[in-house]
Amino acid sequence: MQVKVTVDSPRDVKVDVLAVAVGELEGKQKKLPAALASLDTAAGGAVSQVVKNGDFGGKKGQSLVVYPQGSGRGSLKADRLLLVGIGNADEQSVDDIRALGGRVVKGARGKKATKIALVAPSAKGHGNEVICQALAEGAVLADYKYDRFLTDDGKKKPARKRATLSVVYARLAKPAPARAGAKRGTILAESQNLARDLSNAPGNAMTPVRLTAEAVKMARAVGLRTRVMAVPELQKRKMGGILGVGQGSTNPPRLAILEHKPRGLKANSPTLCIVGKGITFDSGGISLKPGAGMHEMKHDMSGAATVVGAMRAIRMLNIPVHVVGLIAAAENMPSDTAYRPGDILTMHSGHTVEIQNTDAEGRLVLADALAYANKTYKPTAMIDLATLTGACMVALGDWATGLMGTDDKLIEEIKAAGERVNEIQWPLPLFDDHKKLMKGSVSDLKNAGAGRSAGMSTAAGFLSAFVGDTPWVHLDIAGTGWTSRSGPYQGSGATGVGVRMLVDFLEHWKPRSRKPRKAARK
Ligand code: BES
Ligand code: MN
Ligand code: ZN
Repeated sequence: MQVKVTVDSPRDVKVDVLAVAVGELEGKQKKLPAALASLDTAAGGAVSQVVKNGDFGGKKGQSLVVYPQGSGRGSLKADRLLLVGIGNADEQSVDDIRALGGRVVKGARGKKATKIALVAPSAKGHGNEVICQALAEGAVLADYKYDRFLTDDGKKKPARKRATLSVVYARLAKPAPARAGAKRGTILAESQNLARDLSNAPGNAMTPVRLTAEAVKMARAVGLRTRVMAVPELQKRKMGGILGVGQGSTNPPRLAILEHKPRGLKANSPTLCIVGKGITFDSGGISLKPGAGMHEMKHDMSGAATVVGAMRAIRMLNIPVHVVGLIAAAENMPSDTAYRPGDILTMHSGHTVEIQNTDAEGRLVLADALAYANKTYKPTAMIDLATLTGACMVALGDWATGLMGTDDKLIEEIKAAGERVNEIQWPLPLFDDHKKLMKGSVSDLKNAGAGRSAGMSTAAGFLSAFVGDTPWVHLDIAGTGWTSRSGPYQGSGATGVGVRMLVDFLEHWKPRSRKPRKAARK
């Protein structure tokens, strides 16, 4: 999907579908606003007709395709007119505009259109840059479909035709901001779609080796530094968590690192580490999961997928912050080589962990990645994203990400970023008691066995042992990583949650000076 900004008279654009956002029409007369009235004239009255007979009134959620009547000079060049109802035109939020972009593309694609145009909407309180970014995000996200494994009755399906959406301004003195917005929105949504692609891929097509190879492929394409640790290096570095979880599978584990280090950063500029859980399939291991719904555990690398997508956007938008993305990848399988309940693992940090449930594997791979990130990069802050607990699903469903951490300011900043991109992240507690519950008796820690209560917080409690005193936020995306609901710009399946949020967070991040750390050593 390509999104362009053009300056032209809407009636002159030759496209398969010309879309126009229509606010709720009021009164019995249902008088058309001026811009729509002129389109109506060019369409030979096709709009006023459906308005008059009550088929369309501009209500939010309502949309209708009408066919222009008449021909000749001054008539509409588009084959179809798509009327998209937006409700109160004076109160459009950024997410309403995103939804508009999505509805235009879905509506037009439903008519097999590839050449699509939208009369640039004017949204009170938002500049053209913001409007075009939101439109592009909505359009590119809505155009996503995971169809890699669909055939034409056994024969290879031809690739879906690429569509173009032109946002048409009748007049625009300075097109640069609108164009910049469309470009930004496209980069963000394409990066989110990359995360969705990785996450939707089944376990047989997305092993740890494959996942990290995909990360490297992306990194090379955009110019990020990369490093992938295979088993010998993981052994050398004593990554007992990643190795333990991965040892039951013939698909070996990996730790991948993607680094964005823009030129010319000041010596004391901040560093952010983002860590993703990359369990390419979670069978539960020896503590095998029940069969129903197990296939969904192919999504258990959604956190890692988000890190890959976010790193792409961060690099392409050249965000002026040093960011390191880590992907802890393993497959959790039962076998004669699998780790067992009762095993004690020695982690990268040196801590020992008794395995009480091999299905609590995410925290083990994250623990090594977090400890490694903290030691190696001495980051200003760390964020991890993980489909970590069933408890998160129970508490929040796919409505909100579970938000926990050790630093109230960082938690607030993450929460605010989510609100700005319309991804809800809901705070949950992380008490000292949650940390204590994860202490072991024959080992420093245990990976499970704290009971069913507060499962999201005890998981975070376990992780907190591996982050030192670095401000850290844990995002449990067990519920938000995929969805069965489809919205105006979001279909069912993997969501790529967190990609846009992380970029937005970085753009607003005001870290506390991390000088004290260095000063302490003097
Ligand atoms: N990947 C699962 C969590 C999960 C469950 C994500 C459902 C999405 C949907 C995780 O590895 C897991 O199995 N967690 C266990 C932990 C327990 C054994 C302490 C859980 O939540 O049941
Ligand atoms: Mn599990
Ligand atoms: Zn898991």
